[in-house]
Amino acid sequence: MKTDTKRCILITGGAGFIGSHLVMFMVERYPDYHIVNLDNLTYAGNLENLKAIESAPNYTFVRGDITDATLLASLFEEYAFDGVIHLAAESHVDRSIENPLAFIETNVVGTVQLLSAARNAWAADFTGKRFYHVSTDEVYGSLGTTGYFRETTAYDPRSPYSASKAASDHFVRAWFHTYGLPVVLSNCSNNYGPYQFPEKLIPLMINNIRHGKPLPVYGDGSNIRDWLWVGDHVTAIDRIFHAGRIGETYNIGGNNERTNLELVYALCDIVDDLLVRPAGTSRQLITFVKDRPGHDQRYAIDAGKIKQELGWEPSVSVEEGLAKTAAWYLEQTDWLEHVTSGAYQEYYKQHYGE
Ligand code: NAD
Ligand code: TYD
Repeated sequence: MKTDTKRCILITGGAGFIGSHLVMFMVERYPDYHIVNLDNLTYAGNLENLKAIESAPNYTFVRGDITDATLLASLFEEYAFDGVIHLAAESHVDRSIENPLAFIETNVVGTVQLLSAARNAWAADFTGKRFYHVSTDEVYGSLGTTGYFRETTAYDPRSPYSASKAASDHFVRAWFHTYGLPVVLSNCSNNYGPYQFPEKLIPLMINNIRHGKPLPVYGDGSNIRDWLWVGDHVTAIDRIFHAGRIGETYNIGGNNERTNLELVYALCDIVDDLLVRPAGTSRQLITFVKDRPGHDQRYAIDAGKIKQELGWEPSVSVEEGLAKTAAWYLEQTDWLEHVTSGAYQEYYKQHYGE
């Protein structure tokens, strides 16, 4: 089925957290593009995230695996994609420590299969084509108290997750230099917002605060992350996909550094306020637990390049974004209950105990 739209774009991982925000944005913002969402619906993929656009005429969902070369070849043939935005990945550091091979399979092998499929389909003429690889700031390793990750910072991944993403970035650049595939990359800091699977820090804490459960802070809570509202990541991806220079990398960050403990305190106070609990109630739930092995101390981004070249800046402060996120999770009790049943309970028990 070749579509008669202006462009046909393959988004991988579009049923996950960032992917579903991106798919919704692209389907609504570009009615003359056809968006094909390829996702194999792991524990992190959820079609409920996409209800708002599931029957849009310019949208198609395909359930399938990015490591499946036969499927990829047939999709490129059927839809004649002129763009790929690649987000499908295993994305949770803690899971990568427990099961690294799944990360190599999807993040490395899957990315290489996708690069090969795009190259095979586009080899006759790369004009107007674009392969956009969405990556993470974790490839740069861990900062001390000063300094920022720049696009020129040497890679120094330290977890199986970040090592697999670093490897995938290297393969994307190899396909650019060796075969001339028109690629662009971005490396972004920690995202947060609605539809994030509640095993990542912010939704896990909101869910546990709501239920009065212990709030497991790794180590002493002094590790620092830079937090970016997911909607801001989506506008950055849109800008880079359309106007980023081929072969280039753009760092994306929120200018919102917080220690984990500061962040958990803020969430406790916001949720107590929303649930009309006495001030300070939920802070008492904080429990310091065994640190994550190889826990990166600090991530911080210099996002000067994307600002100067593409005019992009984050628009949501962390205070505003956390309030919106907490309100969303407290309202979406059905969504939360669906995603925290079954497999989630098992993961939680295995990782945190009862
Ligand atoms: P996520 O785990 O919420 O979603 C990943 C999606 O990919 C899921 O829908 C899953 O079903 C799908 N998927 C996994 N393996 C697949 C496979 N083999 N074939 C097809 N689909 C598969 O992840 P996210 O947080 O939305 O992250 C999306 C991308 O952005 C990832 O590449 C991640 O490395 C990158 N990133 C994430 C963050 C963050 O803070 N979440 C920050 C920077 C970069
Ligand atoms: P996470 O959301 O897993 O993102 P990443 O490790 O990719 O940055 O974790 C964010 C930070 O929160 C990280 O420093 C680990 C910490 N953390 C906890 O302290 N407790 C938890 O239960 C989780 C999931 C994370």
